[in-house]
Amino acid sequence: MRKQVDNFKYVVETNKLMRKDGLFLVAEGKEGKPNTMTIGWGFLGTMWSKPVFVVAVRHSRYTYKLMEESDSFTVCLPAKGMEEALSVCGTKSGRDMDKFKEFKFTAVKSETVDAPYIKECPVHFECKVLYKDDLAYDALPESVTSNVYGSKDMHKLYYAEVTGAYAVEDADSKLMK
Ligand SMILES: Cc1cc2nc3c(=O)[nH]c(=O)nc-3n(C[C@H](O)[C@H](O)[C@H](O)COP(=O)(O)O)c2cc1C
Repeated sequence: MRKQVDNFKYVVETNKLMRKDGLFLVAEGKEGKPNTMTIGWGFLGTMWSKPVFVVAVRHSRYTYKLMEESDSFTVCLPAKGMEEALSVCGTKSGRDMDKFKEFKFTAVKSETVDAPYIKECPVHFECKVLYKDDLAYDALPESVTSNVYGSKDMHKLYYAEVTGAYAVEDADSKLMK
């Protein structure tokens, strides 16, 4: 049974996982087929007095195309044992593989947005995009561009309102640490 929880209840776990194995970003384009990719860069915080999740998606990702075709996404926190799925979803593209099928993930209709979430993840955030913008190559210091943007494959930042955070009852014991 999944219940709505405070939007910031899992902020510590979220930021810790982003620095470690990653989280699942789920997007669904106009064809209505969900895809997921692993993310490690982003923030759960406050903007415009709202709870906001910022995710950074490079233009080359299949997820980028889906994000551009929709106005929402979900961020799903991995359960213990999902290390392999995070690794594959962070290296293989949805253009070449149905990652939901590969990992027997169940796409469940969200409460507040069009993008579905992964049922097997103990915690998820439903996010509605409020603002998006490409990072400007020329506005970044050379120390960043030379390390991260050698091919000029820039990230687009998506600022999305967290319209709901949800957790299964025993989320604390199920979450990847
Ligand atoms: C731990 C980890 C974190 C990642 N974080 C990001 C990220 O924040 N933004 C991004 O664009 N790609 C990130 N990636 C790379 C994408 O997950 C990867 O390119 C993925 O295959 C894209 O899938 P897609 O083409 O189906 O969208 C990360 C990969 C790993 C393994």
